[in-house]
Amino acid sequence: MTRTNGKDMTAATSNDTRLLPTAADGIRDEAATSQALISIRNVSQVFGLAGEPGRFGRRGRARELTALADVSLEIPAGQFVALVGASGCGKTTLLNMLAGLRHPTGGEILIDGRPPPLPNMDVGYVFARDALLPWRTARKNVELPLETRRWSAARRRQRSSEMLDLVGLKGRENQYRLQLSQGMRQRVALARTLAADPSILLMDEPFAALDARTKLTLQAEFLRIWELHQGGDRRKTVVFVTHDLQEAVLLADRVVVMLPNPGRVAQDKIVDLPRPRADQLGEVMFTDTFKETVHGLFERLEGAIEVRPDQDRGP
Ligand SMILES: Nc1ncnc2c1ncn2[C@@H]1O[C@H](COP(=O)(O)OP(=O)(O)O)[C@@H](O)[C@H]1O
Ligand SMILES: [Mg+2]
Repeated sequence: MTRTNGKDMTAATSNDTRLLPTAADGIRDEAATSQALISIRNVSQVFGLAGEPGRFGRRGRARELTALADVSLEIPAGQFVALVGASGCGKTTLLNMLAGLRHPTGGEILIDGRPPPLPNMDVGYVFARDALLPWRTARKNVELPLETRRWSAARRRQRSSEMLDLVGLKGRENQYRLQLSQGMRQRVALARTLAADPSILLMDEPFAALDARTKLTLQAEFLRIWELHQGGDRRKTVVFVTHDLQEAVLLADRVVVMLPNPGRVAQDKIVDLPRPRADQLGEVMFTDTFKETVHGLFERLEGAIEVRPDQDRGP
């Protein structure tokens, strides 16, 4: 099993990518590890254990499915990490555990030194499908987490206006889900998540359902918000799940490649592209650094297509 505990990471060597922030980045390995905001330590997730609604083999016996095996990652505050991997390698399961929706069956997850509580007001979760409430307007969807926090109506209204403005939806405040395009729905979902100003953003393939053009626009807009507008002195910590390697390299500070059967970390690389880069995404994609980084990671990701015959890939 690959160990990725912050000091011992695997990676194909390349001039443009490094394993971890080095002294040259002003962050020492040790510091990055000890100051991690999110610590994922030897985490496993086995489904189908006794007492769980499991999967059943031909003989009707509960069968275990190891969704994640011995995953370790240390994520410092403010880092934008992309998890890339084929379907079924446990990306969503990992995000759910970070959100506190599921406990690891082995190992531990610590956020700011303690297991993620539920509900966790400091974590925002954006899904692939927008998950907007269809009977609420865009504004009322954005205000939902603020209602949970018992903000006054006036404060909620001001905040929802700001957030919808930030994601380019001024004038659409009173429209319902059905009146909005898929791209606009994802914008509303993003505005809703940002409204509560969480310090950690979990994003599960947030742009996967969009057409190529809309996807590029939203990638740039999201990155602009993250790089420039949000968080003041400190950017939000982002764990961004995607199966699109180019998207991962384009957006993230660090790309973690995962492989399935069982879900595990295969590679962990720092992306050595300058920030802010939101306004230059078009140019960034044609730089040698970008191409070499994608290429180096792709070789490892290709292995994800292989399926070991003794393991079930799941649905
Ligand atoms: N609640 C569950 N019960 C049983 N198996 C599950 C459950 N959730 C996910 N799995 C299985 O765990 C593996 C990882 O799933 P998932 O985290 O959704 O992968 P990804 O998001 O990378 O596509 C898959 O084989 C999936 O079928
Ligand atoms: Mg998933």
